[in-house]
Amino acid sequence: MLNLVLFGPPGAGKGTQAILLAKKFNLVHISTGDLLRQEIADKTELGRLAAELIDKGEFVPDDVVISMIESRLKKPRCTVGFIFDGFPRTVAQAIAFDKLLTKHHSKVSVMLCLVVEKQELVDRLHKRGLTSGRCDDLETATIEHRIDIYNEKTAPLITYYESQGKYYPIPGMGTIGEITENLIQSIEKFNTRPITVR
Ligand code: AP5
Ligand code: MG
Repeated sequence: MLNLVLFGPPGAGKGTQAILLAKKFNLVHISTGDLLRQEIADKTELGRLAAELIDKGEFVPDDVVISMIESRLKKPRCTVGFIFDGFPRTVAQAIAFDKLLTKHHSKVSVMLCLVVEKQELVDRLHKRGLTSGRCDDLETATIEHRIDIYNEKTAPLITYYESQGKYYPIPGMGTIGEITENLIQSIEKFNTRPITVR
């Protein structure tokens, strides 16, 4: 089973690239941000909690996110693997994720980290904020806060995966097509087993 963690700060292009890679390699795309926004749209209790936190650029509690992932992994499906976008996001989530995958006789294959300059992140999110309807894209202060939280709580995962020999930095500046090509090449180099390509 191929388990790709697509990593990077807010606006790095995780969602954009995850959709393209999922199609290319026939993977199931799991985005915790998308799952939480669906809970908000469905007006569930979890959605109400999530909305308050997401709008301020804060994280949803680890246990909530981990149980969301657990229920997704339990769903029986025929796939060669998964691409995780926006998860794990804290060291506690990464440890819980490793335990969960071990229970499923699986493990994280590789962590691909999109490297993008801060000003480019802010510009992309501002631009998306004009049309996305995402409250967390509207204010510069909220965007900067999301980037600060990434640096404080999420970036330490680089060391976590590096120590397991699974960290692969990928340049995230340039056109979407160039970045996809780079990611595909890295996945094909790293993954020596045959992948069903659509
Ligand atoms: P989430 O939805 O994961 O948001 P995020 O990580 O802040 O990142 P984005 O989705 O904004 O950026 P992205 O890297 O996916 O880039 P994208 O492809 O969209 O999480 C939202 C919130 O949910 C969190 O703040 C938190 O509150 C909560 N949450 C989620 N997961 C959680 C977890 N595990 N634990 C706790 N809380 C959690 O691209 C951005 C824009 O740039 C787009 O407009 C795109 O078109 C454009 N773009 C992409 N690539 C390029 C390029 N190469 N050139 C120019 N523009 C580009
Ligand atoms: Mg995203």
